Amino acid sequence: MRGKKILITGAAGFIGSNMATFLLNDNEVVGIDNFSNVDDRFVRVLSKNRNFVFRKGDINDLEFMKGLGKFDLVIHLAANSDVRGGSSDPMLDFRVNAQGTMNVLEFMRLSDTSQMAFASSSTVYGEATQLPTPESYGPYLPISSYGASKMAGEGFIAAYSHYYSFRSTVFRFANIVGKNSTHGVIFDFINKLRKDNRSLEILGDGTQRKSYMHVNDCAGSIIYVHEKLQKTDIVNLGNLGTTSVTRIADSVTKAMKLENVAYRYTGGFEGRGWKGDVKIAELAIDKLTSLGWKNSMGSDAAVDHAVTETLAQI
Ligand SMILES: NC(=O)c1ccc[n+]([C@@H]2O[C@H](COP(=O)([O-])OP(=O)(O)OC[C@H]3O[C@@H](n4cnc5c(N)ncnc54)[C@H](O)[C@@H]3O)[C@@H](O)[C@H]2O)c1
Repeated sequence: MRGKKILITGAAGFIGSNMATFLLNDNEVVGIDNFSNVDDRFVRVLSKNRNFVFRKGDINDLEFMKGLGKFDLVIHLAANSDVRGGSSDPMLDFRVNAQGTMNVLEFMRLSDTSQMAFASSSTVYGEATQLPTPESYGPYLPISSYGASKMAGEGFIAAYSHYYSFRSTVFRFANIVGKNSTHGVIFDFINKLRKDNRSLEILGDGTQRKSYMHVNDCAGSIIYVHEKLQKTDIVNLGNLGTTSVTRIADSVTKAMKLENVAYRYTGGFEGRGWKGDVKIAELAIDKLTSLGWKNSMGSDAAVDHAVTETLAQI
């Protein structure tokens, strides 16, 4: 993608800052964020590039959004990304992820912007009985308000795309890991071990298995697939194979050169990390690969790589 004017919502966050870095050299990027989940550390780095402009604001503020102008593409990543917090405050998922996505769509309609790439999630499938889970799987029975809010966002994107001839690609992400991460299991384990390097609390029973994808593959494949598809569609983004939570703990302790760390499993709810956590998540990526995309690393390698990157940053 070259010479385009692109809006990234949630640009100050983990995936948003990586996406901006990926696009900046060949495109003009406007990043917006309200700093609800993160501070401005990644924005300060991005702002050194003259192709990047940052505007602080909320996706739910339509007047703010209308002032941004027209874009060739909106990469909509802003969200409440705290899946775990959903059971204590489900309304937050509704406001930011469902209503916020609706507002971004309204902004697109009013500004004559017609292309969107959207960060949805494997959580829309709920506890899928078919693994790896293809895009055609159903019915969707999300077990978290986060998954439900992403599902609502997907629905409105499909409707707006039909009404107003938008071209939208909905990406259902597996677990994304890598540089600039400020949350998630790797980040949590490193922080816990920095405080106490003899024992590690592990949420759930450690057998939770998910597929992990490196953020560079995530950013690269979003642009690749959006350009290749040329129609409104849904694509899973993930990796073949899964990595267990205990395997991630092993990777972190090894990288930190720690021996004999005692793992303390909380047991959680039915062995999950928390109520609403999908215990086994593995997405079928045939659609992604049939479009010609190949990830640079598999699930275990993505985790190991991200452990090294995160250790260097925190
Ligand atoms: N990281 C993953 O493994 C993963 C998996 C599935 C889906 N996703 C989705 O990918 C997207 C990016 O995730 P991330 O991991 O980078 O999360 P993140 O929390 O690092 O980034 C989200 C950004 O959105 C911003 N934001 C939140 N509410 C906002 C609002 N009302 N207005 C403007 N900005 C707002 C936050 O401040 C944050 O910078 C999210 O939509 C998330 O749901 C992520």
